[in-house]
Amino acid sequence: MSVAASHLQMVDSAPLLRAERLCVDYAGNDGASVRAVHEVSFDVHRGERFVLLGPSGCGKSTILKTVAGFITASGGTLSLGGRPITGPGPDRLVVFQEFDQLAPWKTVKGNVMFPLLATGVPRKDAAARALHWIERVGLARFADAYPHTLSGGMKARVAIARALAMQPAILLMDEPFAALDALTRRQMQEELEALWQEHRFTMLFVTHSIEEALVVGSRILLLTPHPGRVRAELGAGQFNLASAGSAAFAQAAGRIHRLLFGQADAAAAASPDTGARAPEGAALLERTP
Ligand SMILES: Nc1ncnc2c1ncn2[C@@H]1O[C@H](COP(=O)(O)OP(=O)(O)OP(=O)(O)O)[C@@H](O)[C@H]1O
Ligand SMILES: [Mg+2]
Repeated sequence: MSVAASHLQMVDSAPLLRAERLCVDYAGNDGASVRAVHEVSFDVHRGERFVLLGPSGCGKSTILKTVAGFITASGGTLSLGGRPITGPGPDRLVVFQEFDQLAPWKTVKGNVMFPLLATGVPRKDAAARALHWIERVGLARFADAYPHTLSGGMKARVAIARALAMQPAILLMDEPFAALDALTRRQMQEELEALWQEHRFTMLFVTHSIEEALVVGSRILLLTPHPGRVRAELGAGQFNLASAGSAAFAQAAGRIHRLLFGQADAAAAASPDTGARAPEGAALLERTP
């Protein structure tokens, strides 16, 4: 291999997002600080769908907000494209769970255009880009509608269109479908997968649902709470909605359940209703700290 080629390969293999021994403390009621995230390390490469998975309180949102630049790390390092993260930026857009993340006084188009205009994109270009992404998420007919006239799923689509229209280096999603009913949630997971297949954006996705993590993620970082620490890292690229009922999927879900909650409840989680036995050796990579 030539020097140039090996250099290219090195550049290509560098992670986009790198967290090294990341620690985050909050101020507690009594004035003492409370550690929410303790020495969490992970790498996210370009085009990955990286999931933070763990029970309530394990620091998923805290890590996401620190990547977004809304919270400052108390220790360790966090970098994007080799540069330390020091505050919010248009290269990191967040989609939240809340239905009210859209401005109610702006139309769908106005909401999607807003961050484009705020970052200096000329109005005509912003309108064209907004309409393109509104169409990509299937809302072309609702471009002039106001948020209060939309369903929860439609609002989630607008928030995704608004984020993707900015072409962020990384899309940050904090339980974006958690407030939706099961059918809409499934549909949104399917649509997100289709969008990713088409555009291959990099995604950091937070969920406390094992099934959603396996469906959405190409890699999963398992976190345990008080304080939030890494339990394991697993490859999940082989799973999607189509394989969600398979024995291998159930086996992976059972394994994650075991890693998060210990041995006791694992049998129930591994084979929920069918009693089907998963084959041994599903190809999961594991990194235990
Ligand atoms: N603003 C805050 N001030 C003080 N403590 C906080 C604050 N936000 C979060 N915490 C604490 O930090 C820990 C991690 O919280 P975080 O919201 O990151 O968890 P999470 O994994 O996102 O949980 P959930 O699944 O419930 O959303 C928790 O113990 C929480 O009580
Ligand atoms: Mg959270």
